[in-house]
Amino acid sequence: MLAGEDLNTPVSAAMHRGTLPAGKRVRPILLILAARDLGHDSAALIDLGCAIEMVHAGSLIVDDLPCMDDASLRRGQPTIHRRFGEDVAILATVGLLARAFATVASLEPVDSGVRARLVSCLPEAVGTQGLVRGQYEDLHEGLRARSASAITTTNELKTGVLFSATLHMAGLIAGASEAQQHNLHRFAIELGHSFQLLDDLTDGEPDTGKDANKDLGKSTLVGLLGAEAARQQLVGHLTRADAWLTRVYGADGQVSRYIRSLFAAALPAPQQSSRAYFHDGGIR
Ligand code: IPE
Ligand code: IPE
Ligand code: MG
Ligand code: MG
Ligand code: MG
Repeated sequence: MLAGEDLNTPVSAAMHRGTLPAGKRVRPILLILAARDLGHDSAALIDLGCAIEMVHAGSLIVDDLPCMDDASLRRGQPTIHRRFGEDVAILATVGLLARAFATVASLEPVDSGVRARLVSCLPEAVGTQGLVRGQYEDLHEGLRARSASAITTTNELKTGVLFSATLHMAGLIAGASEAQQHNLHRFAIELGHSFQLLDDLTDGEPDTGKDANKDLGKSTLVGLLGAEAARQQLVGHLTRADAWLTRVYGADGQVSRYIRSLFAAALPAPQQSSRAYFHDGGIR
């Protein structure tokens, strides 16, 4: 909480509501596990994880707006604009982004050079060459037929870049070598593809805490290739993600185990063979 902040204003309340209900917290968990497995552990990881989660929460508030996905449900609760109005939702997003950047800029105890590099990670991920561009493409090109490669590029921008920033920040704070940073980046990109594919595959499921079938009529990889082919792609991305991780941490690091549990629990029921595949360590 910042000095002088009034928690009772609608914008502050919307910032809290947009951030605190239980999401999966995938990005902060990844940050902490990735840094710890590189030998770094400090209280700064919690603040950094919160900053990344604030950016993510802001992206969800915007994504749900009527002019974007027009969603009514998020994390099992009414979306922020449904509850507080569109004006407050937009201002809450701006507030969350500002808070996230301020949190990273005042991170302690972190060397000032490292802090400066950490500060530049989030705007790069959010900006016009990252999430903003991905969301624009999703909305403006996603309503017509697109090639698999065009959809894949959009997915990387709207979802992959924040994973990439998360792993980059983990590497920076933990003093990772250039080679380790490269491998973490490649891992993050494969994870981003896997994550968006899984999200698209579960779009029609009733128990996601979100509106079902929001993507009907959108050009997603699931729509273009069909569910089974999309699942195969997901398995391919996860296999490669794990291979990049192995280069950094060796076999069976904490990040690998977390990713396996995340996807094993969430893969749709017909994909029993993939479940066995992951549990058997088949993604080596
Ligand atoms: C949803 O992200 C948006 C996508 C990138 C697909 P999450 O699936 O991480 O959402 P929460 O944080 O768990 O609610
Ligand atoms: C998520 O894509 C993109 C973001 C970066 C917010 P979706 O629009 O499919 O995400 P959900 O399904 O609403 O969480
Ligand atoms: Mg969207
Ligand atoms: Mg959406
Ligand atoms: Mg979705």
